[in-house]
Amino acid sequence: MSSDQKLHPTPIRFKRLLLTGAAGGLGSELRKRLHRYCDVLRISDLAGLEAEAGHEEVQLVRLEDAAAVHSLVEGVDAVIHLGGVSTEQPWDPILQGNIVGTYNLYEALRKHGVKRVVFASSNHVTGFYRQDEVVSPSEPMRPDGLYGLSKAFGESLSRLYFDRYGIETACVRIGSSFPEPRNRRMLATWMSYDDLERLVIAALTTPVLGHTVMYGMGDNTTTWWDNTSARHVGYRPQDSSEQFRAKVEAADPRPDLSDPANIYQGGPFVRTGPFD
Ligand SMILES: NC(=O)c1ccc[n+]([C@@H]2O[C@H](COP(=O)([O-])OP(=O)(O)OC[C@H]3O[C@@H](n4cnc5c(N)ncnc54)[C@H](O)[C@@H]3O)[C@@H](O)[C@H]2O)c1
Repeated sequence: MSSDQKLHPTPIRFKRLLLTGAAGGLGSELRKRLHRYCDVLRISDLAGLEAEAGHEEVQLVRLEDAAAVHSLVEGVDAVIHLGGVSTEQPWDPILQGNIVGTYNLYEALRKHGVKRVVFASSNHVTGFYRQDEVVSPSEPMRPDGLYGLSKAFGESLSRLYFDRYGIETACVRIGSSFPEPRNRRMLATWMSYDDLERLVIAALTTPVLGHTVMYGMGDNTTTWWDNTSARHVGYRPQDSSEQFRAKVEAADPRPDLSDPANIYQGGPFVRTGPFD
């Protein structure tokens, strides 16, 4: 599918959408796609962004800067929140970007009356489930590191802001969204960029979202996650990792099953990291 085509069949037009983390891997991809659904796309990151088209507004903001985040959300209809630390890192950047930053965002949303968010959570919220289990969002979180723990905080924070203030959020526990699966684990966790777009648009437009936790995954034959409780969102993945299976398995014919990375869903994230 060309990124110039609109994947959603119905006309959808937001006045202004905010995309955080717009300079990142998924942000760069969604930046190319989301403008088709809104008059103005406000894009934000730490650095590395310039407006390239008339429909774009750029704000360079550190999420831990509360005042800047308050200006960032002014006048937006909804937020796609991708910004923050996206890998296992030392505690301080995680604290600033993912804990303080997400708190600042929800406080700003509350003050500005913004009512809908797509929050990029992560499969690493439940990374310590085994690969022979199928997990649903109602099961207890089992983060596989500080990064996963910070996403668990974001999910709970957004739950509080829904229960208390009615801000609706889709917490999307993204698996692995890349052009194609890079290893055996990603045969279960992969989601194409087209499916990512489908998921984001479904979460932005479903009439009643409430507070929904769901996994961001494709139509994969092998899966570790059950999205039944999020059917009301109307996300129908259309791309499967199966087309890449032969290539992926040939590159790694005999996985080491004594390696925790091959036993637990979080893969290499479950190993003791360099920050202990
Ligand atoms: N790519 C995936 O498959 C995947 C899987 C699970 C979760 N996610 C989540 O989706 C989101 C996007 O992922 P990605 O792969 O594009 O990650 P990425 O690291 O490429 O992008 C994240 C962006 O956030 C910005 N950022 C980091 N700290 C910040 C701060 N303190 N203030 C403002 N901006 C800050 C970075 O500059 C970066 O551009 C992340 O929240 C990530 O945790 C992605």
